[in-house]
Amino acid sequence: MSKNNDELFKNVVSHTKEYGFVFPSSEIYDGLSAVYDYGQLGSELKNNIKTYWWKSMVQLNENIVGIDSAIFMHPKIWKASGHVDGFADPMIDNKDSKKRYRADNLIEDKIARYIKDGKSEKADQLQTDMDAALAADDLPKLKELIELHEIACPVSGTRNWTDVRQFNLMFSTQMGAMAEGSDEVYLRPETAQGIFVNFLNVQKSGRMRIPFGIAQIGKAFRNEVIARQFIMRMREFEQMEMQFFVKPGTEMEWYAHWKESRLKWHLAVGTPAEKYRFHDHVKLAHYANAAVDIEFEFPFGFKEVEGIHSRTDFDLSQHEKFSGKKLQYFDTVENKNYVPYVIETSIGLDRMFLLTLCNAYEEQDLSTEEKQDSRTVLHLHPCLAPVKAAVFPLTKKDGLPEKAREIMDLLKLDFNLQYDEKDSIGKRYRRQDAIGTPVCITADHQTLEDNTVTIRHRDSMEQERVNAADLDTILGKLVSWKNLLS
Ligand code: GAP
Repeated sequence: MSKNNDELFKNVVSHTKEYGFVFPSSEIYDGLSAVYDYGQLGSELKNNIKTYWWKSMVQLNENIVGIDSAIFMHPKIWKASGHVDGFADPMIDNKDSKKRYRADNLIEDKIARYIKDGKSEKADQLQTDMDAALAADDLPKLKELIELHEIACPVSGTRNWTDVRQFNLMFSTQMGAMAEGSDEVYLRPETAQGIFVNFLNVQKSGRMRIPFGIAQIGKAFRNEVIARQFIMRMREFEQMEMQFFVKPGTEMEWYAHWKESRLKWHLAVGTPAEKYRFHDHVKLAHYANAAVDIEFEFPFGFKEVEGIHSRTDFDLSQHEKFSGKKLQYFDTVENKNYVPYVIETSIGLDRMFLLTLCNAYEEQDLSTEEKQDSRTVLHLHPCLAPVKAAVFPLTKKDGLPEKAREIMDLLKLDFNLQYDEKDSIGKRYRRQDAIGTPVCITADHQTLEDNTVTIRHRDSMEQERVNAADLDTILGKLVSWKNLLS
């Protein structure tokens, strides 16, 4: 990360805390690593992102329905899905500091140092060797590379390493009152399996016909050993996933469809297209026949936000095998049964939240020849903004607070509003700019005479005078989901 981007990212992170978007979890006990809480404005923004996704997936597509499956699931599900045996990271411990690291992260850091020192040939060679070792699951080779390139523990500074071992990322706990004799269950590491195991329940109860999709938003848990970049990689996070069930042989058409459709969803909020790119997977998971990541350019570089995977019939077939139950669809057009193929779209809600904030955040210099001035503003799309409008009385007297409250009462059932009468109007505007409120409404002495108010727009900072009776319509148009979804 360049110094400017590094600073920018630090400022975004501290802004989220200062204004009540994100707090470190359990902060008064010094926090819990890679776990975060969403504050009063963060939970509003998060809910708005969820609504945007849910409406675009479930409400706009007649053939997609949504479910809410449990976090605890039968342990066999994770055996069938491959998570018990294969959902692991290669880890290595330093015997002196007792610190544990992801072997590939240690090597990546070394590659970054080679690049910084202008040793690009060495960096390329190490990258190639690491990719080959990871692709072949060759753990001794990873250790050999760490030793060969003299990688030391950042804490102890020594090269006294254990062997590289696979470390499963699933959290487990005991179900039942007694630990003894009770069953070990896992906290789900993805929401997708809750959809697969309900495939027939939804298909039959909803009389769904292929092609159709099942969507879900929910928590997922992964024991990530290395926590990086704030809410990018957390141990408890949320996913918005959709599994689209199709006739075998048609999956590539649907894969292309969802790739395009999902990028369109990202761009509709006004994010510049050059901030996004597709990254095709070169090495496909054994169950996939195509996979792509949608990456966004964060201040720390392009990173995955969403994955689109053509998962063949792997998951449903595995659950057929492990449960002994048929998970097939009778196609009345083809007059035959088959296990559907699946296209998955999977986006991390927390990463989308961070993306939205990084993209919206701006420190603006408003200085003129006469005076120095600046503001921090979040250019959030009005549909996503946590507060839709702020209502101010110009002063705290002459009946203006009562008038402003009257306006607020008319609007607050339909819109999330804030009332503020403290400090100068200028300071109040700045506070709302910093949390991304699209408009501020001020009641002044003229309001008492003709019921007109001023509306001040966040991005242009321009003001206009409108009738207070029209505010409902004006705000309704401003935050209508039609602006994003049609
Ligand atoms: N069902 C497919 C699946 O879970 P994934 O690539 O492992 O695929 C999907 O995860 C998305 O979930 C990622 O693109 C990312 O946005 C988000 N995600 C994954 N691990 C995460 C973590 N530890 N913290 C925050 N978000 C995460």
